[in-house]
Amino acid sequence: MTQANISLYYKNVTAEVLGPEHGINRDQFSEIAAKTTAAIEKVNQVRAAGKTPYRDLPYKAAYAASAKKLAAEIAGACENFVVLGIGGSALGNIALQTALNPYLYNTDDKQRKGPRLFVLDNVDPAQLGSFLDWIGDKLDRTWFNVISKSGRTAETAAQYLILQQMLQERLGPAGFREHVIATTDPKKGTMRQITDKYGFRSLVVPDGVGGRFSVLSPVGLLSAAVCGIDIDELLAGAADMNQRVKNTGFFANPAAILAGVNHHFYQRGKRISVMMPYAYGLKDLSDWYRQLWAESLGKAKNIHGEMVFVGPTPVKALGATDQHSQVQLYREGPNDKIFTFLQVQEFARDLTIGPAPDCAPELGYLAGAKMSKLINCEKLATEYALVKDLRPCMTILFERVDARTVGQFLYLYEVATSIAGRLFEIDAYDQPAVELGKDATMALMGHPDYAAMVAKIQPIATMDPAYRI
Ligand code: PA5
Repeated sequence: MTQANISLYYKNVTAEVLGPEHGINRDQFSEIAAKTTAAIEKVNQVRAAGKTPYRDLPYKAAYAASAKKLAAEIAGACENFVVLGIGGSALGNIALQTALNPYLYNTDDKQRKGPRLFVLDNVDPAQLGSFLDWIGDKLDRTWFNVISKSGRTAETAAQYLILQQMLQERLGPAGFREHVIATTDPKKGTMRQITDKYGFRSLVVPDGVGGRFSVLSPVGLLSAAVCGIDIDELLAGAADMNQRVKNTGFFANPAAILAGVNHHFYQRGKRISVMMPYAYGLKDLSDWYRQLWAESLGKAKNIHGEMVFVGPTPVKALGATDQHSQVQLYREGPNDKIFTFLQVQEFARDLTIGPAPDCAPELGYLAGAKMSKLINCEKLATEYALVKDLRPCMTILFERVDARTVGQFLYLYEVATSIAGRLFEIDAYDQPAVELGKDATMALMGHPDYAAMVAKIQPIATMDPAYRI
């Protein structure tokens, strides 16, 4: 049965609260509603034409079944599960793990429902070297999930090649084959060729689903299933949200309101969008959102081929931690931001604050209070302070943090991004600007196909001593 366990509260963006200069009045809301309704209709049409296959992932039971089957095959023997991937092939995995497993999952065996999880999404040799030193004598109890649609991504490929050599040397050909699982294109690409050559078990990155929209595909589902996350509930949550975000009634559609309000404020000079969860477990959902929003909406050209250079800048912050780092700027710096808080009504567990010692009666106000009350009061206090300085704020309220609500959240933001893409009139699904840097890396690393680029990079690469102190 469809559930609605997260809600959007947006009164604190209205002119009623913020006044006419910084708030949205009724007429402006009507305009936003009209524009955004057209955008929802367009997004629904594109979906019906099969051009946004990420929209159907909540209903792809076969993907969940393949992830669960593989997870069951390695359960028991697997003590460490290592994801090699970057960007859309890593951030969803990290977000699910932080949100849905305990803080000390990897450290405390009693808190683990599955193997330890590591997501290696960088090529820092000091970092990877430290990890390899630790994992080196545990390879027979470790499985590696290489996630790459193309297989040509330099970071993932480099990690894979290091691990391939290590596994071949230490476990032999059969062990190497056994301990690698590929998540890649079903038919083409470098990782598919490697998978077929060595006979790895594999899962698919579905056709037409871009990395940043792939968390509900095998890309995100396998590590989640391996680590004991209820992926059926995750998908059920996404399906719940689908019912809400396909609604063409603007005021009944939370994705539409998120997209419409953000787009509106962008036009009024509020071009920075801060997501601030007040729950540690939700912090990597803002990292996931940061990629989704930035790569999808930051575009030079619009769909008419005009140069527009648009895109809101997503920023992640964490409550209450960043109250002591960022809020000074947020309140007194330029009024160029919109804030979206993530708030949890019922935490998975709660703690009672102990009594204050006689020497510190000034701490008595905390004594006996619940920690959940403190963090939610801090959220409210920050919102109050921001609103007092006429900064627009919205809140996504989670009844609780579980696979169902996280699935609802992921799908909400994916569709909000599609609708925002329509409002900005850009292609939300490509990332042309990322390619040049990828090509230049290959050129600098000596890839023969990119040799001609090296000369073009040279003026940037050569450090002019006149400018180096
Ligand atoms: O969102 C995206 O498309 C990117 O972040 C990709 O996921 C990332 O570049 C990795 O690409 P690949 O899966 O081909 O290795």
